[in-house]
Amino acid sequence: MRRRWLAAVAITLLGVTACGGGGETKAAQSEVTVFSWWTGPGEADGLKAMREIFEKQNPNLKFIDGAVAGGSGDQAKALLQTKLQGGEPPDSFQGHAGAELQGYIKAGQLEDLTSLYDELKLKDAFPAQLVEQISVEGKIYSVPVNIHRSNVLWFNPAVLTEAGVAGPPKTIEEFTAALEKVKATGKIPLSIGSEWTVTHLLENVLLGSLGTDAYNALFKPGADWGGPAVTKALESFATILSYAGDSQDDWQPAAKQVADGQAAFNVMGDWAYGFFRNPAPNGLSKTAKKDFDWAPAPGTDGTYLWLSDSFTLPKGAKNRDGALAWLKVAAGKEGQDAFNPKKGSIPARKDADAALYTDYLGEALKDWSSDKLAGSVQHGVSVSQPWLSAINEQVGLFLGKKDVAALQKGLAEAAAANTQ
Ligand code: GAL
Repeated sequence: MRRRWLAAVAITLLGVTACGGGGETKAAQSEVTVFSWWTGPGEADGLKAMREIFEKQNPNLKFIDGAVAGGSGDQAKALLQTKLQGGEPPDSFQGHAGAELQGYIKAGQLEDLTSLYDELKLKDAFPAQLVEQISVEGKIYSVPVNIHRSNVLWFNPAVLTEAGVAGPPKTIEEFTAALEKVKATGKIPLSIGSEWTVTHLLENVLLGSLGTDAYNALFKPGADWGGPAVTKALESFATILSYAGDSQDDWQPAAKQVADGQAAFNVMGDWAYGFFRNPAPNGLSKTAKKDFDWAPAPGTDGTYLWLSDSFTLPKGAKNRDGALAWLKVAAGKEGQDAFNPKKGSIPARKDADAALYTDYLGEALKDWSSDKLAGSVQHGVSVSQPWLSAINEQVGLFLGKKDVAALQKGLAEAAAANTQ
């Protein structure tokens, strides 16, 4: 599957080179390159829906899809850094609200979008706490297009029944008991994707084990990563991970194992919902509550472990006006209501058409308005990119050695090095 996406990316990149070469400013002015990592099954559908609105509203502009494959942007973000440092930014790029975006802002790589916010009255459209995550010193630097939930436990109801598990586990202890029961049936208890999905699991286990306030405190200066509560959480993480099947290429094949009845559980963000539900060939066309079901990740009920995709205007964008046209679509009600039902996310705007968000997404909209909030680690809210790289490195080492004490030490050092 990964190979197919890479081929698609290569074609895209070739397209960019062919159109952009020779200093053809005129061509650059008629093209808008939008950089994301939404090439894979499920995700590409959302981008396509928003792109269609952009093309309808801007018949003179050509949308160039600069997406780079790899869930969670694991490949894309590295390539983006090279482009930014080489003075070759795309016209707009995807960045997570929170610490990740703050990194681009502090590096002076983004234009201030306050005048766009004033023109479109966006401060009234988005929740205040979200605008705060994309602002520095009163200036606002991106347009959030959605809210995703990271703490979702996806499960296959028939596999649970077969294993004698009455319903989705509500606590970490219930989770390990359920995993053990599934193991006895010969099915995969927990499906897992590439390495970043293990960090995704880690943030969920930390939240489920520590509780919301202690989890949020981990990202403040002087946080106690070395204490017994984190030790207990990491021991649970190790136990849960011991029930994982073979690592899959990325999040989609791991989620698919649940929808196909090969695996019982998968802890993944709600982009999985778009993948499960969207029609073929990109989606799996599965039926909610029958082929797949969901619950808050064990121990996290009442908390929305959130993240938000936002789009930026990098300094030095070749087609600044075209980028602004894209940002207007991304910020607008029509764009968000086309994008989010397909993407498996709820809109960042407060005035979106609630009737479009049914089933899982209806529940998500309700929970977003009432739950406590905690910021995702893997998806840019709570930790900066250097801190996340250090965490990912520790998770990678743990996958080899399975040494909880070494993991805790490494995580504590990463926190100390990245907070003042
Ligand atoms: C997240 C991103 C989501 C989704 C996911 C899996 O980082 O915010 O929109 O794309 O990765 O690729």
